[in-house]
Amino acid sequence: MPAESSRTRTLPAKSPSLPPGPRQPAALQAARWLLGSTSFLERCQARFGDLFTVNLVAKAAAGPAADRNQGRWVFLADPEHVRQVFTADPEIVRTGDTNRFLEPLVGPRSILVLDEPGHRGQRKLMLPPLHGERVRNYGTLISRVAEADLARWPVGEPFALWPRMQAITLEVIVRAVFGIAEPRRIARVTALLGRMLNRMTNARWLLVQSLLATVAESTGHKGTARRLIGPVDEVIRTEIAHRRAATDLDQRDDILSLLVRAEYADGSPMSDDELRDELMTLLIAGHESTATALAWAFELLLRHPDKVARVREETEAGLDDYAGAVAQETLRLRPVVPFVLRNLAQPMEIGGHLLPAGTWLAPCAYLIHRREDVYPEPLRFRPERFLERPAGATTWLPFGGGVRRCLGASFAQLEMRRVLQTVLAHADLVPARGKAEKIRARFITLAPARGARVLLEGGGK
Ligand code: HEM
Repeated sequence: MPAESSRTRTLPAKSPSLPPGPRQPAALQAARWLLGSTSFLERCQARFGDLFTVNLVAKAAAGPAADRNQGRWVFLADPEHVRQVFTADPEIVRTGDTNRFLEPLVGPRSILVLDEPGHRGQRKLMLPPLHGERVRNYGTLISRVAEADLARWPVGEPFALWPRMQAITLEVIVRAVFGIAEPRRIARVTALLGRMLNRMTNARWLLVQSLLATVAESTGHKGTARRLIGPVDEVIRTEIAHRRAATDLDQRDDILSLLVRAEYADGSPMSDDELRDELMTLLIAGHESTATALAWAFELLLRHPDKVARVREETEAGLDDYAGAVAQETLRLRPVVPFVLRNLAQPMEIGGHLLPAGTWLAPCAYLIHRREDVYPEPLRFRPERFLERPAGATTWLPFGGGVRRCLGASFAQLEMRRVLQTVLAHADLVPARGKAEKIRARFITLAPARGARVLLEGGGK
């Protein structure tokens, strides 16, 4: 756990105050948010500066102070403020609270919804399978899955790349997590998981479910959600049981086998319930975000034939530095997760404001990534900038930061490099339209509005 930052003051030195922000009623701000969260954020920053408060949820004014602050998100677009938040004591700057809405899906023991001290123990066990040599071993699997999918792409007619990227990343994560190779078993797991995710991350579906839940006091919500989650649960639990009984457990290096063998500090193993929640977390966190990032990578890169040529040349030479820079620049210009959230358990002073307990902080990748003082010509797609200067922990935050930084960051970047290289080595792709695709908010992510439509020319390379 990092030491509490010297800039973090938790004792009230002045009366609590929130930074300025739009004064419209919460409902109107929420409507502006839904119509275009990124342009809303840009306008707020232009008007109020790098620290501003957005109010998205109307709360009873008569409630306690902590309740009153719920729905008030303080956005941070100054790297120094972000450093303060990412290095603060995670018992004071909490993350699990802000992910609570995912609990019906990932379960109460998921690393995503835990706060300290439980979070630290889970993270220690889950880190090794997703780091260093272990991750690099997945390179061949990723290239093979991408190559097989590529063979099915239509030639000479425009199609959206995003669903293809979803299919690739889903199969990759299922095979990496479970270590299964039998096509029928993979097909069953990916079909069930794909169906569940498509429904549960669809904004309209979520809206209908929450209305049902309000009217029927949760029975409607849980009933439908259960019908989608239940079969996936069953598959996960069956795989756990198989793995516990496997005679070759010591030789296997898939994520499930590594987690079954892992031990907490006191020597105890993970329970079936813990394994279920963490596997579900990895399947969900490791799929959609990477697919969207890849769709953006193609949408941006294909508009620059010289940069496409550079990726190909490096691939032929057995290198992947430039493909890596393309991935980084894509995640800078189009951060799939535009901001992360933290809940203050105690008051904290940031930028001259003593923010009260209960305030949600939003270190904002989208705004920081567009700062001219950090990234000259910020709107230009220029992967070279990451070859000239490495990414900074408080200026490049597509994977969040601090003790909650994305556990799959290395995995995701490897996957982006390998899919870009494999596809470009075998296919001549061009954008289907001259005009760049707009950003569309999808659930908690930013996706290409038309799904990154492309044309595969002349039967591939
Ligand atoms: C381009 C793809 C991805 C993006 C943009 C992304 C982004 C993020 C972000 C923004 C967070 C929250 C960090 C914070 O609160 O500071 C996060 C957390 C997490 N991600 Fe990812 N992610 C990606 C891929 C993956 C993959 C491939 C996996 C697993 C194989 C994964 C597993 C996780 C987990 C387990 C957490 C929770 C970490 C914790 O709370 O300690 N992610 N990710």
